[in-house]
Order: sequence, then C-alpha cells, then structure tokens
Amino acid sequence: KKKIIIDTDAGLDDAQAILMALASSHVEVVAITTVMGNTRSPQVALNVLRILKLADRLDIPIYVGCNQALNGFKVEGCSGYHGADGFGESPDPNAPDFSLVQKEDGVSALIRLSKQFSGDISVVCIGPLTNMAMALRKDKMFGQQLEKCYIMGGNYYGKGNVTVSAEFNFHVDPEAAREVLHDLCCPKTLLGWETCVTDENSFSWDWYKNFLNMKSNKMKYLAELEKYTMNKYYIPNINKGLIQNYEMADQFLMAIALDENVIMESKTVYADVELKGELTRAQMVVDWNKILGKEPNVKIVTKLDRDRAEKC
Ligand code: BDR
Ligand code: CA
Repeated sequence: KKKIIIDTDAGLDDAQAILMALASSHVEVVAITTVMGNTRSPQVALNVLRILKLADRLDIPIYVGCNQALNGFKVEGCSGYHGADGFGESPDPNAPDFSLVQKEDGVSALIRLSKQFSGDISVVCIGPLTNMAMALRKDKMFGQQLEKCYIMGGNYYGKGNVTVSAEFNFHVDPEAAREVLHDLCCPKTLLGWETCVTDENSFSWDWYKNFLNMKSNKMKYLAELEKYTMNKYYIPNINKGLIQNYEMADQFLMAIALDENVIMESKTVYADVELKGELTRAQMVVDWNKILGKEPNVKIVTKLDRDRAEKC
C-alpha cells in the first residue's frame, strides 16, 4: 500500500477527500496534518477528528500545523462556503475532544515521518501549502525524503475563485505556494482550480441530490454538514446565475493520489506564483512556452477521467 500523509484545512470537500482515502485499499493514511485555510488550524483538527470517528479510524494521528501564513496572514471570520468552523456550522455534541490530538506540531511531524519512511511516503496537500513550506525551511532535505507531493491549488489560465485571479489555497499563502513550487524537489503533481470545474468535471444538481440522499451513516452525516453550503453558497449563487453545478476540488486530487490513471492529460512545466500584482497576487503563472528557459518543476493535470475518479 502507498503511504500518505494528508495535509488539510478541512473543510467540507476535504472531509470527503479524507473519507475517500480511508475507504481505499490503495493507500495507508499514516497521519493527518492540519493547516489554517478554511478555518483555524486547531479547529481543522477538531473537524478531522469528527471524520475519523465517523470512519472508525481514530487510530490515525492528527497533528496541528501552522495557524498563520508565512507573511503572518490569519484567516478571520466566516468562510462563505464552509462556515465559521470550516465545517458547515453543524456542531456534533458527540464529537471527540481535542485531547485526542497529538502534542507534536504538524511541521515537525511532517519532517519526522518523511525521515522515518524515507522515499516511501507521499503528502496529499488539500489546503494552503504553509506546513510544506515551513518543513522545507526547517529541513532542506525534506523534499528528498518524499516519494511524491500532490497539490490541490493554483490556476493556470488565471481563473480565480477568491479574487479574480487567485485560487483559494494559493491565495491564503502565496509565499508558501511559491517556495514549494521552487524548492520542494520531489515529483509534484498539481491539480488547479480550472480543471476541477470544467463542464465535464462539475456535477449536476440531480447528481448532488442523489449523492446527499444516499442512505449510509457517513452520507447522512455529510449531508447535514453540506446544508450550510447549499443554503449560503449554492442556492444564492445559482439564483444569481453565477454558478450552475456542484464543484469538487480536493476529492479530485485525492482520486489522483489513489489512482494516477485518473489523470487523462498533464504537462510538466515550470510554474511560479505572482506575489506582487495589484489584481494578480497569488495567481499561478505557467511558462507554457518555455520563455523563461527554466527547468520544469511541476506536473500540471489538465484533463481528468471523471468516471474513473468517481469510482475511487
Ligand atoms: C480549495 O479551497 C478550499 O476552500 C477547498 O477546501 C479546496 O481545497 C479550492 O480552491
Ligand atoms: Ca481544502
């Protein structure tokens, strides 16, 4: 089995991605590290505990990672998509408490586990890349110890989902995204926002309703969490004509990590992150035409096999 660490800012789509990994026979989830993004990093740990309990996998260790971006930025207030707790504002009175979270911090755990399983462990990054960048800053060998790194984040045609030009995970910590793209030397596979939301890859309302109506305990739990997003995000935005379908991101990246044949087309290129632009800070910039003459640093997924991803 392929060993993975999930680095997450869970997050409702993160929750689904984590459940996919736990249900898969292809991977062993060695640990989960949390990062600030959809909510604060300690709150992410509480959300992950709820998911692990749901899957009866509280044996998997959770480590709290960075709670601010490299430049000091902190997420405050309520995410319009995931709610203030990053989890649909639907508290669970039976949720496990924080005492089950490991004392070691997420960045130290990433470094330690990368050494322990040297060359035989991958990280699946479904939140901002702060923990990964901090691990690299603390240990230059970090990238060398990883088999692979999978990244959900960025965009390559400039289509943003937070600002006009920035995807959320890169927007929260653009400096970290740049450091990881530049300096993390293991093979990196990146799934950007545009590929997640093509017409072929987004899901119809009928599909979404059927999905939420599935009768398993896990789906009932997830459906409860999704109510917030449905009422506060999808319905108003659909009424305004701003979106048409249910969108997935982290789930698709997890599908790739579980089965790389989900990738139908990809290109290995040099990519960077804009840090200064007035309108374009945090936009990923891809040198498709090799104008900069730099060595390629990332494999970008440009087309997915959605049917195959759905089977994951
Ligand atoms: C990413 O932003 C987050 O809100 C989601 O969990 C996903 O990781 C998509 O841009
Ligand atoms: Ca996420």
